[in-house]
Amino acid sequence: MIRVRQMKKIYRVGEEEIRALRGVDLHVGKNEMIAVMGASGSGKSTLMNIIGCLDKPTEGSYELDGHDVSKMSEASLALVRNEKIGFVFQSFELLARQTALENVELPLIYSREAGLTSRERTRRALHALNRVRLADRVSHRPNQLSGGQKQRVAIARAILNKPAILMADEPTGNLDSVTTTEIMEIFRQLHAEGQTVLIVTHENEVAAYCQRVIRLRDGLVLSDLPVAQDQAGQVIA
Ligand SMILES: Nc1ncnc2c1ncn2[C@@H]1O[C@H](COP(=O)(O)OP(=O)(O)OP(=O)(O)O)[C@@H](O)[C@H]1O
Ligand SMILES: [Mg+2]
Repeated sequence: MIRVRQMKKIYRVGEEEIRALRGVDLHVGKNEMIAVMGASGSGKSTLMNIIGCLDKPTEGSYELDGHDVSKMSEASLALVRNEKIGFVFQSFELLARQTALENVELPLIYSREAGLTSRERTRRALHALNRVRLADRVSHRPNQLSGGQKQRVAIARAILNKPAILMADEPTGNLDSVTTTEIMEIFRQLHAEGQTVLIVTHENEVAAYCQRVIRLRDGLVLSDLPVAQDQAGQVIA
């Protein structure tokens, strides 16, 4: 599904070169659920943004669903992103003036399927909102929703186009622990239905929902191990 080889990302800020990724190799198979962990600044978001086709590597190859996307033009990359990637962010990134339903419909308006009737768009968006158990909040705007509900709207939007991979960068970073559990139960359910999931997190509690933990340090993979838990439920990968 995903194969990354010797991926490097160098940011240039004025005279300075920042080596955010220094040669990352990894493979993600279909229907895996993986946590990406590591200290602040270790390159997690940089890696996620490249895997999510929001950015391009400076060096190295990246194969997504059989296509080498590392050398694609911005325009082709945007198409791949729309078709194959669902992205969930720590800060939800919902449009404040739009309802939950309108927020979820958005990717359909910009997709290859732009010719869909508004009735069909609504039908699909309602289906996605149902899957995150928010059918009773479709007309609410973000400021009328709790943090967990906002994140569920964002997840509904991310799964709308049936992405090959669902990615989340600290999706529970702004949520309390009860709400974190609620959100992770949704990821667990989507994974059980066949979804491939990649989650950046600082929390062991979140990593415990995953089967594998990839740890980054200073732009390199430090370890890539199956999740094991001790008797207290602590992740010991
Ligand atoms: N657009 C950018 N321009 C320049 N440097 C950047 C840019 N984005 C990230 N960096 C730098 O690259 C390194 C990796 O950043 P990244 O955001 O990937 O870390 P992270 O592991 O996601 O950290 P956090 O846990 O704090 O979110 C950091 O040193 C950061 O300052
Ligand atoms: Mg980050």
